[in-house]
Amino acid sequence: MKRGEKTLVGQIDPAVLAYTAGEDMQLDRVLVEVDCIGTAAHVTMLSEMPLPTPLFTSVEKDQVIAALVEIIRDHRRGHFEIQAADQDVHLAVERTLTKRLGDLGKRVHTGRSRNDQVAVDLRLFAKEQLLLLLRETADFAKVLLTFAEQHKEVPMAGRTHLQPAMPSTLGLWASAHAESLLDDLELLQEAYRQNDRSPLGSAAGYGVPLPIDRARTSDLLGFARPIHNVLYASMARGRCENIILMVLSQIMLSVGRLAEDMILYVMPEFGYFRLPSAYCTGSSIMPQKQNPDVFELTRARSSDVLSCALRVSGILKGLPGGYQRDLQETKAPFMEGLRLTYDTVKVLQPLMSSLEVNESALRAGCIAEIFATDRALELVADGVPFRDAYDRVKAEPDALEGRDPVMAAMQKQHEGAPGGLDFAALRKRAESTIDFVNRETVCYHEKISMLLGVGYPVLEK
Ligand code: ARG
Repeated sequence: MKRGEKTLVGQIDPAVLAYTAGEDMQLDRVLVEVDCIGTAAHVTMLSEMPLPTPLFTSVEKDQVIAALVEIIRDHRRGHFEIQAADQDVHLAVERTLTKRLGDLGKRVHTGRSRNDQVAVDLRLFAKEQLLLLLRETADFAKVLLTFAEQHKEVPMAGRTHLQPAMPSTLGLWASAHAESLLDDLELLQEAYRQNDRSPLGSAAGYGVPLPIDRARTSDLLGFARPIHNVLYASMARGRCENIILMVLSQIMLSVGRLAEDMILYVMPEFGYFRLPSAYCTGSSIMPQKQNPDVFELTRARSSDVLSCALRVSGILKGLPGGYQRDLQETKAPFMEGLRLTYDTVKVLQPLMSSLEVNESALRAGCIAEIFATDRALELVADGVPFRDAYDRVKAEPDALEGRDPVMAAMQKQHEGAPGGLDFAALRKRAESTIDFVNRETVCYHEKISMLLGVGYPVLEK
């Protein structure tokens, strides 16, 4: 048998190397920066470790960090390579550091494992992605709330089973979709908090016989705290991805329902809304077509994100404790789920803020029968028992003609009804998420800037 390809961690048969590295060479490209940041924190902590001979003097630590910053810069210029023999970003960074710094590079892996590295990389990556997604989702909720408030007295038939049901308003419809996103944002913030714990210092999952300071690396990286138990820290990989993907699925389900409404309501048969043509796609054969493809793809991609979540839970189900290579396979669906959700929430905002509303079509949709329940309740007010009133209204459909849908809808003034919507309170919930994101982002960037000795993310002094 051939001796195999030389790697930092042994001679490996090329086919085995390719099979086990899988997609890592490509996927890990998005982890280059966070991998360097994680290494900067580890080396800083090692340089402070109370040993008779320090592993890194303070000057050496600065040299390693400067080299890490250079790697990030090279990567941004497209000059950093993860080679096949590296298997992944972790060994690519170590190889590069050793090439540039000699023995100093060979020392950086003291007291840690790649399991440690990939776990911390993914948490830093997730933190950055979740902050972006929290902001976009809150912005999207605000777009819907603005639309709702602008159209709070525009009539719309409320529907159940898609059949005309009761008089309602565009304001109620749009702010319902907004409030769903506001509740999703609470879940996303909880997922953010679960993610905001440092796994670093678990090593292979069982600790190391060195006085490493896990609280220090956690703090250097801007995490709220370390995950306590080192074995759990290694097992929390996958768990965290799974929780995040489940919340992403929920967000996609929320926007998927909005998308389905939109597909119906831009149909000429409804004609409630028109999308500006820049947000539609045409047909190669039918010159007249203006298709709402964005909403159709939103609907499909909500299934895609759900399947990303299922792929991860499928890998976790039945997995024993401790690191297992299976976990590598959670990386692709995790990244894909984050990307799809972010892109969807972002692309929908301009569409929803530039909708043309056809008020006469909406009014025409408010056919007389939708006033039936209101009429029955008027009879109740006159003392008729509800079931008798119900039967009378059913027997006299003509008595429902000539009502104004806006007046009818706005008469419902109890909490959350068309005439009782508290837009200010809903808006405040979106704003408080944005404040949270701003605070967290500033805090994170300050920590990483301090760690790297240059402003992050710009990498300038
Ligand atoms: N690419 C690997 C992963 O994503 C990195 C960790 C490898 N660890 C190991 N023990 N082989 O899981």
